[in-house]
Amino acid sequence: MKRSPVSLSLLWMGYTGIFLLADSPAPVEAHHILGVFVNVHRSQLMVHLAVCRALLQKGHHLTLVTTWPLEEQEIRGNVSHIFIPWKQPAEEGSTSDLIGRLERMFKRLEHSGDLLDLPEWKTFLSNPPQTPYDLLLLGYHFNDHLLGLAAHFNCPVAIVSTQQPTGFVNSLMGNPEERWYVPQPYDGHQRSGMSACVFGIWEKFIEMMARRVLARIYSLHFPEPRYPSFETMRRSVVLALSNHHMISEGPIAPLIPSMVDIGGIVLEQQLSKTPLELPAGNRSLIIFSLGTRFTWRKSTEELVQTFTKAFSQFPDYDIYWTYDGPNGSAISLDYPHLKVAKWWPQSQLLQSGRARLFITHGGKGSLSEALFHGVPMLGLPLIGDQRANLRRMQSRNWGLTLSTHNLTHLELAKGISRMLTNSSYSETILKASQVYRDRPMNSSDLATYWIEYIVRHKGAKNLYNPARQLNMIEYHSIDMYFMVYGFLMLTIAMLRKVNRLL
Ligand SMILES: *[C@@H]1O[C@H](CO)[C@@H](O)[C@H](O)[C@H]1NC(C)=O
Ligand SMILES: *[C@@H]1O[C@H](CO)[C@@H](O)[C@H](O)[C@H]1NC(C)=O
Ligand SMILES: *[C@@H]1O[C@H](CO)[C@@H](O)[C@H](O)[C@H]1NC(C)=O
Ligand SMILES: *[C@@H]1O[C@H](CO)[C@@H](O)[C@H](O)[C@H]1NC(C)=O
Ligand SMILES: *[C@@H]1O[C@H](CO)[C@@H](O)[C@H](O)[C@H]1NC(C)=O
Ligand SMILES: *[C@@H]1O[C@H](CO)[C@@H](O)[C@H](O)[C@H]1NC(C)=O
Repeated sequence: MKRSPVSLSLLWMGYTGIFLLADSPAPVEAHHILGVFVNVHRSQLMVHLAVCRALLQKGHHLTLVTTWPLEEQEIRGNVSHIFIPWKQPAEEGSTSDLIGRLERMFKRLEHSGDLLDLPEWKTFLSNPPQTPYDLLLLGYHFNDHLLGLAAHFNCPVAIVSTQQPTGFVNSLMGNPEERWYVPQPYDGHQRSGMSACVFGIWEKFIEMMARRVLARIYSLHFPEPRYPSFETMRRSVVLALSNHHMISEGPIAPLIPSMVDIGGIVLEQQLSKTPLELPAGNRSLIIFSLGTRFTWRKSTEELVQTFTKAFSQFPDYDIYWTYDGPNGSAISLDYPHLKVAKWWPQSQLLQSGRARLFITHGGKGSLSEALFHGVPMLGLPLIGDQRANLRRMQSRNWGLTLSTHNLTHLELAKGISRMLTNSSYSETILKASQVYRDRPMNSSDLATYWIEYIVRHKGAKNLYNPARQLNMIEYHSIDMYFMVYGFLMLTIAMLRKVNRLL
C-alpha cells in the first residue's frame, strides 16, 4: 500500500502539517509548487494564500513555508505545510524623522537573515522533496536573498507582491520606471513631475544600499561557487504577480509581459462563500474597522468614547464595529444599533447590498474590498502607506478622509453625515466598481495560467527581459548621449576652425 501523504510529510519533518481534500480536480499534469511566504504581514499572506488556493483548485500540489500558523479552512488540497515560528524582532526607538526611519528599515533588513539560521529552516533546506519542485513562488517583500532557494532546489522562480509594483520590483524585473507621471504607492504626497524624479533618484540610492545588505545575507547562506551570484539570481525571476489592477486603480504605467496584475484575487474567492444572514428588515449598514495592525486594547478610553459618541447620533443605521478592546458588550447594551465584536465578516457585510458607508484605516486590502463592492469610504489613516492610499481614494471622489490627529466626535459625526447625505460618492465608486470587475479573465485563472505557462515551457526563458543584463549607464543610454554630445562639440569646434581659416 502507498503511504499516505500525511505520514510521508510527517516522516519528512516535524513541522509539517497537511490538509487534504479529495474533491480538487486532477489536472492533466499536476505540478509541485514550493510557496515560501515568510516574514510577511498577515494581510499580505492573504494574497499569497489566494494564489495558492487558485493553484490547488486546478489540482496542483503545494509545499508551503510560512512564519504564520495556518488553519485548515484557509487552504485545502494537496498541501504540505512547513511552519517556522519566527517573528521579526520589534525595533525600539520611535523617531519618526527620515534618518530614524531609514535606520529602523536597515536594522530590519539585517535581521531578516536571522530566519535562515533557525534549525527548522536548515531542516527544510536539507530535505529534498519527494517530487522535485517545478516552481518556487516567493512572497516578495525586501527578501531578494531568498531567491537562493530557487538555485538550491533547481527550479524557476516567480514572485508575488501585494501592491502596485514598487521601484524594487521594477528594477528586479527590468520594468521601465516613469517617475514623471507614475506616483509611487507608498508616497504619501503622491508626487509627480520633477519632485517625483528627484524622489526616485533618492529611492534608487536607498535601494542600492538595501541590495548590498541583502547580497551580504545571500552570500552568507548561498555562497559561491556552489550557488550562482546574488545578481544572477535576481535576474532569474521570471514572473511577478502584483495584487493590483492598474487599469481600474491606476496609475497607468508601462508593464512588461512578465509582470501580471492579479488585483482582486482575494475578493473574487470570497464571493463564493455563503452570504451572511443579516437581521430581518432593511436597515442600512455602516462598517467600521481599523485593520489588523490596530488594537483597541492599547487605545485610550477617550478614543472609544469619541467613536461611541459619534456613532450614537446615527441610530437609523446598524453600525458593525470591529473592536477587540474591553467593555465591548457594554457599548452594545447602551446602543443597540452598535454591533460590537472582535471580528465581522467584512467582505460579506460589504457585499450585502445594504452597506452605505465603510469607515476604514485605508489598508490596501480594505480599499480594494470597498472598490470591489462599490461602497464609499470615510478614511482614518493610521500608518505607512494608508495616507497615500486614502489620498488617492479621496481624489477619485470615493469618499472623504479625516485627520486622525485630535479627532473629536463632532468632526467624526460631521464626516459621517456628509458621507451619508451626499450620494455623489457612492455613485462614483459604483461606476468604478463596474470597471474594476470588467476583465477578460478572473485573477485566480490569470495567476494559474501564467504559473502553469512557466512550468509548461520549462522556465519560460522567452519572458526574460534583456534590459536586466544592462547596467544603469547602458540602460539609460547615458554613454550614447555623451558620445553624441562629444561628436557635436567636436564638429562645432572644427567648423569654427575652418571658418577662421577661410
Ligand atoms: C500530493 O503531492 C505530492 C507532491 O507532488 C505527490 O507526490 C502526491 O502523490 C500527491 N498526493 C495526492 C493524493 O495527490
Ligand atoms: C474564475 O473564472 C473561471 C471561469 O469562468 C471559473 O470557473 C472560476 O470559478 C472563477 N474563479 C473565481 C474564484 O471566481
Ligand atoms: C424596506 O424599504 C422600503 C423602501 O426602501 C420600504 O418601503 C419598506 O417598508 C422597508 N421594509 C422594511 C421591512 O423595513
Ligand atoms: C470598562 O471596564 C473596566 C474594567 O473592566 C471598568 O473599570 C470601566 O469602568 C469600564 N468602562 C465602561 C465605559 O464601562
Ligand atoms: C492636539 O491636542 C493637543 C493636546 O490636547 C494639543 O497640544 C495640540 O496642539 C493639538 N494638535 C492639533 C493639530 O490640534
Ligand atoms: C457632494 O459631494 C461632491 C463631491 O465632493 C460635491 O461636489 C457636491 O457639491 C456635494 N453635494 C452637496 C449637495 O453637498
